[in-house]
Amino acid sequence: MATEAASVRRLIQITDPHIGGRPDYQLLGLDTGHTLEEVLNSVAAQPENAELMVVTGDVSANGSEAAYRRFLHKMQSFPTPWFWLPGNHDDPERMDQMAARRRPEVASVGNWRILLLDTSVPGQICGGFEAHELARIEQLLEQHADHPLLLMMHHQPVPVGSNWIDGHMLKAGRERFIELVQGAANVRAIAWGHVHQQFDSELGSIGLHATPSTSVQFTPGSGPFSIDSEMPGYRWFDLYDDGRYETGVERVTITEYSVDLASSGY
Ligand SMILES: [Fe+2]
Repeated sequence: MATEAASVRRLIQITDPHIGGRPDYQLLGLDTGHTLEEVLNSVAAQPENAELMVVTGDVSANGSEAAYRRFLHKMQSFPTPWFWLPGNHDDPERMDQMAARRRPEVASVGNWRILLLDTSVPGQICGGFEAHELARIEQLLEQHADHPLLLMMHHQPVPVGSNWIDGHMLKAGRERFIELVQGAANVRAIAWGHVHQQFDSELGSIGLHATPSTSVQFTPGSGPFSIDSEMPGYRWFDLYDDGRYETGVERVTITEYSVDLASSGY
């Protein structure tokens, strides 16, 4: 039945492509342009028709115009509408200059509303929300109180269990942010990038999800910096109009995959 088929819609999250300005750019020995293309091909080949894709930050390696130009070029023939938001390696103003309308505050997927939050803090690796950003989030939660909400951002609002990257999590405004989302009965899930690994947990009734990078993977549960041999991937969300959702991670298989596993930082 057409009405039943329309009650679930797919959203894709990719994250942390770390695209450099030059075609030969590598992150820890990995060709991030190539791995992004592999992930995009895999997303485009899935039988489910995604309505929207969101790129949750660290689009670029260094915030340069050349890096965003390379990213946008790779996205040119991608069939699904997409938005992006900034991470600590990005330059939000430059992103807006180069691709106006790619960074709305709110996106609609069926009955769901997706809030695209900017956790980036100029000059810092960790994330944060200033008072005015928290006030705006509070306003958006009120405005969209009648819809199930998925909040998407770059930094993790809770520790994921990898000590070194948890040292770079959402810091300023974190407690107030948690208070706000827990106080809003319609926040169903929060999804982020930054940690370059899969993570699934709960905060009361709110699902918490981190997604593998399209590039280098970090080792879950590690104390110091550690590179994982897992493959790049993406996350899908199936969003039901009644507020339920399902989610999962798919990884690609790349035959020419080389990354410096012994590296001690990035
Ligand atoms: Fe990253």
